[in-house]
Amino acid sequence: MADLMTGLKRTNYCTELDEKNVGEQVVVCGWVQKTRDLGNLVFIDLRDRTGIVQLAFDDSTERGIFEKAAGCRAEFVVMAKGEVRKRVSVNTDIKTGMVEVFVTDLRVLSKSQTPPFEITDSTNVKEELRLKYRYLDLRRSEMQNTLIMRHKIVKAARDYYDENGFLEVETPILIKSTPEGARDYLVPSRVHSGSFFALPQSPQLYKQLLMLSGYDRYMQIARCFRDEDLRADRQPEFTQIDLEMSFVDQDDVMSINEGFAKYVFKRILDVDISLPLKRLPYKEAMERYGSDKPDTRFGLELVDLSDILKDTAFKVFAGALETGSIRAINVKGGAEKLTRKEIDKLADFVKTYKAKGLAYTRLTEENETSSFEKFLSEQEKDAIRERMGAKKGDVIFVVADSSNQVVFDSLGALRCELADRLSLIEKNTFDLLWVTDFPLFEHDEEDNRYVAKHHPFTAVADEDLEKIKTDPESCKAKAYDLVLNGCEVGGGSIRINNPELQQTMFEALGFTQEEATERFGFLIDAFKYGAPPHGGMAYGLDRLVMLMLHKESIRDVIAFPKVQNASELMTMCPAPVDKKQLDELYIQTISTQE
Ligand code: AMO
Ligand code: AMP
Repeated sequence: MADLMTGLKRTNYCTELDEKNVGEQVVVCGWVQKTRDLGNLVFIDLRDRTGIVQLAFDDSTERGIFEKAAGCRAEFVVMAKGEVRKRVSVNTDIKTGMVEVFVTDLRVLSKSQTPPFEITDSTNVKEELRLKYRYLDLRRSEMQNTLIMRHKIVKAARDYYDENGFLEVETPILIKSTPEGARDYLVPSRVHSGSFFALPQSPQLYKQLLMLSGYDRYMQIARCFRDEDLRADRQPEFTQIDLEMSFVDQDDVMSINEGFAKYVFKRILDVDISLPLKRLPYKEAMERYGSDKPDTRFGLELVDLSDILKDTAFKVFAGALETGSIRAINVKGGAEKLTRKEIDKLADFVKTYKAKGLAYTRLTEENETSSFEKFLSEQEKDAIRERMGAKKGDVIFVVADSSNQVVFDSLGALRCELADRLSLIEKNTFDLLWVTDFPLFEHDEEDNRYVAKHHPFTAVADEDLEKIKTDPESCKAKAYDLVLNGCEVGGGSIRINNPELQQTMFEALGFTQEEATERFGFLIDAFKYGAPPHGGMAYGLDRLVMLMLHKESIRDVIAFPKVQNASELMTMCPAPVDKKQLDELYIQTISTQE
């Protein structure tokens, strides 16, 4: 039988104790990190969420207590009463290293099997095992500190937006589908056979309706669900700091959110962010960095060579020019650092972004090697080197493709890969900027139709109002993304508040009037009853926490994350359910295994 807590109440967390407590009677509790049994002395490192304090037992300790202490194994849960005293051998590695608790009462409240891995600050245990036993992994101080910081960031968000007049309102989780571009998670209805709720991809429509209802400024720490392929910065279930404001334009939304960025970095990390933040129009971001979420902590900018090569005889390049482009980056001093072999590997790397090849020129001190210059005229060669500012020691990489998107994607990814390999990024910096002037539409090649680049409720730039039907591709949106160290941490837009314009937008996106009414009739109707101009944005909270704390993966900042195949390893879900449950929901399943 385990001991009881009867008669004892915790007086302090472990690391609250220091020299000022010497002589005091205290009660501490937590988990046994380690027991050291030296025969006539026993020491226990006791751990709670604040850290570790040493418990001490010696030959003057009552025998029963001494033996109980000697029997304590790692992860036993104990409560101890005793006097704080100075340690004989000081441990400068821990906060409480000057003191210890000389124990006069010890209760073993719960025992533990030997855990599958040791609970240590940092660990190299495989992530799979850590996630299977996440409740143990979460005992590690690294995880505990992360979740404490996450709590503080959420608290900072609530405080900041509250101070600025935002009201937190909860929106439903069982809803009608809200399109944000991903697949929905569906929930079958028992009461309405054959009908389904969707889990929200975001609270988008509800927050717009709240503006219509006069709440003026809304915020929510909102759970969102998207059935999409996972990556290091994506989870099927994640959290947004979501907000919306009435009677505002783009600058108003951006300015209140820059204020939040400054506030949260100062309060959490004591880092000063200088305002206003940089703003890069989408087009410039693509042309200079090959990405709409550029990491601008390093150079390696893209340079367009198309005009220089417009009459080239080199077929690979000439073929790209009609509909695409030829662009390059110059890796200053790269000839020393990148071997031929590595350069060949980089060609494979860009192929994963659909590039057909990677042409290069390597200008070492002794000679020059180029995979493509032999196909060019002297003039073309000289013009390229001049435009690239090429000097001895540099390596120039070129991608040509009939799709500009492929050129941007591959060179954009290559510049980040090279920056990483060549250690061009200063790790402790925060590069925060806006990307603005996004296109309103994107062409979906597969379905051969336009889709909304942000979402279908985003307003078109005033000067493009007339072009929605005639020239959709050239329309810009009143949309903006917040980018941190090359990662999209937030995004938003000014919304359409005019029912006719919303209808036009649905038509441009290929919905018939009936389809639009079927799916969004409530919204179009609502807009007929006085919708104020409004706009807002949402931060990916998990991404923000990940980047602020320099974590590798979004999973490191989520208590119970899902893995690559969208399952959770601890509870092993998703999982089959009883036939009875399925029957109640009028659902039959089809096995996909032959
Ligand atoms: P958006 O779809 O851009 O906008 O999402 C906002 C932010 O949420 C984060 N995010 C994710 N984080 C983790 N895992 C995911 N699967 C995931 N998907 C998105 C990103 C992103 O910038 N309703 C609009 C916002 C608005 O217009 O106000 C929306 O959801 O950091
Ligand atoms: P080839 O004539 O196909 O052997 O190509 C000569 C060089 O051009 C090789 O280094 C190829 O990797 C490179 N190359 C081929 N296609 C492209 C392309 N689309 N963009 C850039 N380089 C390419």
